[in-house]
Amino acid sequence: MLDTKTIVQRFLDIKLQVHPEVVQYLTARDDPTLIDQILLSVPDDTVVVSVQHIPGLKTERDGVRFLPDPFIEVVQGAEGSTMGVGGVESFSHHFRDRYNRLGGMIRTRAHAMPIEALIKSSRFRGEPVTLIGMVIEIKNTSNGHRLVHLEDPTGTIPVLFNKGRDVFSDASQVIYDEVIGVRGTQSPKGEIFFGDQIYRPDVPISHAPYAGTARGSAVLISDIHVGSETFLEETWERFAAWIGSSRVSYLLVAGDLVDGIGIYPGQEKELSIKDVYEQYNTLARMMTRLPSDMRIILAPGNHDVVRGAEPQPAVPSEFLGKFPGNCTFVENPAMVSLQGVRFLLYHGRSIDDAIGLIPGASYENPAPLMEGMLQRRHLAPAYGRKTPIAPDHKDRLIIDPIPEVFHTGHVHIQGLTTYRGVLCVNAGTWQAQTAFQRQMNVNPTPGRAVVVDLETLNPRTLDFL
Ligand SMILES: [Fe+2]
Repeated sequence: MLDTKTIVQRFLDIKLQVHPEVVQYLTARDDPTLIDQILLSVPDDTVVVSVQHIPGLKTERDGVRFLPDPFIEVVQGAEGSTMGVGGVESFSHHFRDRYNRLGGMIRTRAHAMPIEALIKSSRFRGEPVTLIGMVIEIKNTSNGHRLVHLEDPTGTIPVLFNKGRDVFSDASQVIYDEVIGVRGTQSPKGEIFFGDQIYRPDVPISHAPYAGTARGSAVLISDIHVGSETFLEETWERFAAWIGSSRVSYLLVAGDLVDGIGIYPGQEKELSIKDVYEQYNTLARMMTRLPSDMRIILAPGNHDVVRGAEPQPAVPSEFLGKFPGNCTFVENPAMVSLQGVRFLLYHGRSIDDAIGLIPGASYENPAPLMEGMLQRRHLAPAYGRKTPIAPDHKDRLIIDPIPEVFHTGHVHIQGLTTYRGVLCVNAGTWQAQTAFQRQMNVNPTPGRAVVVDLETLNPRTLDFL
């Protein structure tokens, strides 16, 4: 394995400096003979070896984009990572994994005790302690307080959040099945716990996102819905023409690649392509017309041909015969590293649940809901509601590691925010308002793409409508 030190030393041995882009290129290729080839072709007066000295590699200086294609890595959610749906046993493993990992994140900031130990001993009554548990029940009392039942592997306890306390606004955001830490005191008789403060797994305040060291940018889109009558073909063509003349190295698509068939009652009447294979073939032709040296990552959504339960497998190969070789199909969710910058792609079905469970949440403003997922370090905290979840042994919807960019779709409304250094992008759609959305008074923002600079992580929204 070629490491940075070895590479730099090889060049230093003959008194040459080497540009980081070249080091990245060589590390990714992992072929020591490439160094010899470069050394042979470097002119005598060279001080710093740069990408233009790599034999056969086209660079921007030649008017051709320098594309460091080996710098893409699927960190999580590579095709074939999901397991089949197991029985009751995998269900309990799933929740144990969720509790252990999210609880562990809280434990780095708060010292907690088991619920059983608190209940069994009167020693702690009246003393502030911290518990970590999963929320199994939420009620509003007749006096307007909030009562949350917390469960850990040792027991359960009712936790009361008083409406007159500062903690109440935090407590009103608590949702089913999320893992929280609560600092508070046990009642004198021990039957209830009074919550004073809530800890979430969250992104640490000190989190510093990694910025790439090589030039590059990625375009983020979602919800293309090929095959729908409302797919905006002309708008897409303008986008395709722009991308052809841009220096974008990567295109990421966060689900709903096609409109699918049988997704909702009466969908047939709103389809321009009624065969799902033909929908994917049409998308394949659209991808073929984009630059062939651009890398394209495609994840499924709830309209795609795979199972609805998350994590969703990648679109299977029988639908992909016509796609060009620069397309990589991943699962939903998936984490990909582009030149070291990590993008978390999640279609965003759980936003439907968050809207129903978090007061004040709305489709018009999806960005705060993405913040909510980061605070809970989970893509779909509420189990068994609108978001179907397949209980793998490991909970693959936990957000770990923390990405630099969090990319969702699903709501068809573009949103941008930064939360503790994590850039959150809801990408919008390429579909005009559907009859259903008109009925629900949802106003989509079609035809927008967000370009992210990999060195600065700065986003730029382009509107092709
Ligand atoms: Fe969609």
